[in-house]
Amino acid sequence: MSSTISVTPLTGSIGAEIGGVDLAVPLSNSQAAEVHAAFLEHHVIFFRDQDLSEPDRQKAAARLFGEPVAIPFVKSLADHPEIIDIVKEPEDVGKYNFGGNWHTDTTFLETPALGALLYALEVPSRGGDTLFADMSAAYDTLSDGLKSTLNGLRALHTGKRSYGSQSKFQGGKNQSVSMQIDATEEGDKLVSHPVVRTHPETGRKSLFLNPNYTVSFDGWTEAESKPLLDFLHAHAIRDEFICRFRWDAGSVAVWDNRCTMHRAVNDYEGMRRHVRRVTLDGDRPH
Ligand code: SIN
Repeated sequence: MSSTISVTPLTGSIGAEIGGVDLAVPLSNSQAAEVHAAFLEHHVIFFRDQDLSEPDRQKAAARLFGEPVAIPFVKSLADHPEIIDIVKEPEDVGKYNFGGNWHTDTTFLETPALGALLYALEVPSRGGDTLFADMSAAYDTLSDGLKSTLNGLRALHTGKRSYGSQSKFQGGKNQSVSMQIDATEEGDKLVSHPVVRTHPETGRKSLFLNPNYTVSFDGWTEAESKPLLDFLHAHAIRDEFICRFRWDAGSVAVWDNRCTMHRAVNDYEGMRRHVRRVTLDGDRPH
């Protein structure tokens, strides 16, 4: 059957823009299958000129990819625990912006997110882009020797620096006036995940580490771990493995959190940016 959507890859490794789809209405089975196939192939997909300002519509669109889930520490929308507003106000000058370090969402949980659907309600006239990194390409391009070492390792992840005792948001510090992030000792918990994860749907392997939440290899000290973690993080964000998305109001990004990292660029001081995220429930990495 001929395709009813367009899929335009953004780079040689990651990201594609999808056309011919209105996410505000139910998709036909074949359209939904094509969109899902593009999501798995390109790891992050983008849509323009969408209207998902109604929270139930955004959740319905997110269900094309997985089941919406509430996340800890960040205040959600009233009546919609699966949705968070990510806002930087003009007066939030000099503050860290939410999602501003390279990270994979909620890897401090036993079952990190499958992915997320982010919808832009208001964007600055310039800046505020989001970067995405392809962790499968990062894995594929390592030497066989390093691959085999990493396949035998696990790593420890914690929300300590974001949502625990070392939280950059502690006591309202760094926090946008329009967000509420509650750091608690629950954020200090350490969780162990394999360093190389096999994608449950595609069978492809990817690196499963990120500089925001990964603190060490399991059984290694932080000092022992740091040189190799630093190498892997630098390798993972090489230009060839990255795409950069320029938002307009009405743009949508859906990323596969099982094989990507992302980072929100903080280069629009004095302007407002408001995006809204539905997080999708994930499984235990293997
Ligand atoms: C996030 O990390 O979920 C937010 C990304 C963004 O605001 O671009």
